[in-house]
Amino acid sequence: MYNIPQGVGIGISLLKHELEKIRKHKLVIALDGHSSSGKSTLAHNLAQLLSLNHIDTGAMYRAVTLYLLNNDIDITDKDKVSSVLDEIDISFQREQDKCITILNGKKVEEQIRTMRVSDHVSDVSAISAVRSHLVHLQRKMAASDSVIMDGRDIGSVVLPDANVKIFVSASLEIRTERRYQELLDKGVNITKEEVAKNLAKRDHIDSNREDSPLIQAEDAIFLDTGSLDQGRMLAEAVKIIHSQTA
Ligand code: DC
Repeated sequence: MYNIPQGVGIGISLLKHELEKIRKHKLVIALDGHSSSGKSTLAHNLAQLLSLNHIDTGAMYRAVTLYLLNNDIDITDKDKVSSVLDEIDISFQREQDKCITILNGKKVEEQIRTMRVSDHVSDVSAISAVRSHLVHLQRKMAASDSVIMDGRDIGSVVLPDANVKIFVSASLEIRTERRYQELLDKGVNITKEEVAKNLAKRDHIDSNREDSPLIQAEDAIFLDTGSLDQGRMLAEAVKIIHSQTA
């Protein structure tokens, strides 16, 4: 009946009653939080468990950044950046249980996760024209079905009427360790200090930009993911969704 993500079923099997109730609702879930807080993994697992469309808005900002870098567009030139936004088409394609980012017809899932993109994405996402372009697209993507959308401004700006809002975070040390391990697993040659510096810089820009800074929406429930493995994170999120839809 439920599509329990592999390896994370233990806590979930205890929550049959909650899942039963949650299933009766149309779900629009806004999931916000800091970089490497476990947000995307949680969104992916919830999407699988509850059969929701998953929209990773960070991937959309990353895809715009990749386009600008690949086309040698100066990201400090806001007018130039605004003028090319209509050339950028972003969509998602489901492959097995994964959601792949497509930029102008090409799969770019790997390229958008490189440090080259990570180093510039916060600056690009601070440009108001980029934000309004993507927010418009995100609202269209979320319009029809039940959906989980993860990002920084989903509960506060993109989907303020979402019936579930969750804000996730963990300490910079824990997030650095997670991201560092992820990059090592991918064979990326990088030091932990470089990862910490990139995360701290992105936290700062994301939280202090003028347009739609990263904030916890007033009606969002905070989930500290620091000490939680994937299964417990999923179980805690199910409890929150149950409490917000009851
Ligand atoms: O979630 P992520 O690390 O892939 O996001 C990449 C960047 O995109 C992040 O530094 C902030 C930005 N972003 C944003 O400004 N608003 C969103 N809704 C999602 C991401």
